[in-house]
Amino acid sequence: MSNQINSAIYGSAPTTRRDFLAKAMAVGGSGLLLASMKAWGMDIASTQSAPPLLSGSGKGKTVLILGAGIGGMTAAYELSKLGYTCKVIEARKFAGGRCQTARTGTVLEELGGEKQVCNFDKGQYINFGPWRIPFNHRSTLHYTSEFEVPLELFNNDNDASYVYHENAPGPLAGKRLRQYEVKADMRGYVDELLAKTLKSGMMDQQVTTKDKALLLDYLSNEGYLSKKDLSYRGTNGRGYKVNPGAGMTPGAGVASDPLAFGDLLQSKLGHIYHSVHEFIQQATMLQPIGGMDQIAKAFEKRVGKTIRYNTEVMSLRNLADKVEVQVKDLASGKASVITADFCLCTIPLSVLRHVDTDFSEKFKTAIQGAAYAPVGKIGLQMKRRFWEQDDGIYGGHVLTDIKGINLISLPSSNWQGKKGTLLGYYNFEAAAAEVSALSQLERVEFALSAGEKIFPGQYRSSFETAFSVAWHRVKYNLGGWAHWSDEGRANAYPVLFEGEGRTLLAGEHMSHLTGWQAGAIESAWQQIARIHQRLSA
Ligand code: ALA
Repeated sequence: MSNQINSAIYGSAPTTRRDFLAKAMAVGGSGLLLASMKAWGMDIASTQSAPPLLSGSGKGKTVLILGAGIGGMTAAYELSKLGYTCKVIEARKFAGGRCQTARTGTVLEELGGEKQVCNFDKGQYINFGPWRIPFNHRSTLHYTSEFEVPLELFNNDNDASYVYHENAPGPLAGKRLRQYEVKADMRGYVDELLAKTLKSGMMDQQVTTKDKALLLDYLSNEGYLSKKDLSYRGTNGRGYKVNPGAGMTPGAGVASDPLAFGDLLQSKLGHIYHSVHEFIQQATMLQPIGGMDQIAKAFEKRVGKTIRYNTEVMSLRNLADKVEVQVKDLASGKASVITADFCLCTIPLSVLRHVDTDFSEKFKTAIQGAAYAPVGKIGLQMKRRFWEQDDGIYGGHVLTDIKGINLISLPSSNWQGKKGTLLGYYNFEAAAAEVSALSQLERVEFALSAGEKIFPGQYRSSFETAFSVAWHRVKYNLGGWAHWSDEGRANAYPVLFEGEGRTLLAGEHMSHLTGWQAGAIESAWQQIARIHQRLSA
């Protein structure tokens, strides 16, 4: 990182600090630079928490931004603040890219598919693009905070929800179980085994006497083992046969019986158990109240006047002193040419591949370097929230091995409302391709017959109306998100990151947070700093 970029990005740092950082870079390379910046709270880790602090002005200069998704609008918003003239080209009639929410009136026509018009009741919706925000995606949360988009909790892991594996080997096949039953029993039995093995002295080579005592103490607390004989016989965390209550009956409740260890092991249902979630998949996440598109709308409110909607990019030319892009107005069919000092292209690589450009062969090959994930979702409006009323499940996911379903997700909003819209499937790759080949009605039938196995007598009879998407069949996306192989990351990604001529790329595909809005935002932040540096030189 040169001192010049450093000062453009971290403009507010005092000169002495900048000088120090430059020296740190010269003496100790990027490792020392990073350590020094971290020590000052200047975090340039993959999850950036704020846009770059750019000094100077972009007055009199024009940046053409291709795509009014979250990445494109981030760039337009930040560059406009610096005084740049931003021109955003958007093929759709609305902004947001994949950040869309289906509610009454939403129209979607997949390639080669039928036209869907969502007819959910007022207040019902499904986030068929991004739908959850990890607490550590501080870039996304930076804008929800700045734009005052109200958030609520998204329950990403509910122990009370069900797991249903119809193909599980052994007697647990096709049994609807609460996730807490599986988790408690797996943990309890494993603790029992370890505790008894420790006690027998079989691990005395591995642990000191002191640690053995401490570990036994931990196990007897953690897995609810009997203090007397270190056996696991169940725990109330896995639910009761009869719940405790008031008065003489039901009294203190009747304990439930644990599943047999052998059955559990055979079924492999323990694979649902994670003691600690992945960095991006915590139990408790966030979502905007009223739909994820509240984020897109908040951006659009601020940068909408810079967006030319319903306009397709036909060709892109990098000239010596400008960039020239030919566009077509989709309403009139008229073509025109837009020029700018620089171009930030946020078009997904899956689509950019088909645009006429004068990029070098090397760059064009790199654009082919990422695969795009087939992804499908269906929202099912239910006239009754049976999962809450009958089963006491408030949000979270039903996990299933039914091919093409993967999970059924229960809404984390409008608790105890009259109706509710759940996610009936969330499928990927081959399963997504298969399900997406079905007609809209067949997709609904597929989702209902699966759900009916898990909520018999309720699922189908409560169903009212549906809205589904197969992102790989959506014209301006052609996939859910970019999927980089190790080889693509090593070879194509760095080439694309450098950009070519007066064009840089941004979007979730240009990040290590693919499939997340944070990836789009943070890549836009990085690239606007580079554009500003180039145009300020
Ligand atoms: N970001 C995507 C999700 O939340 C992958 O499911």
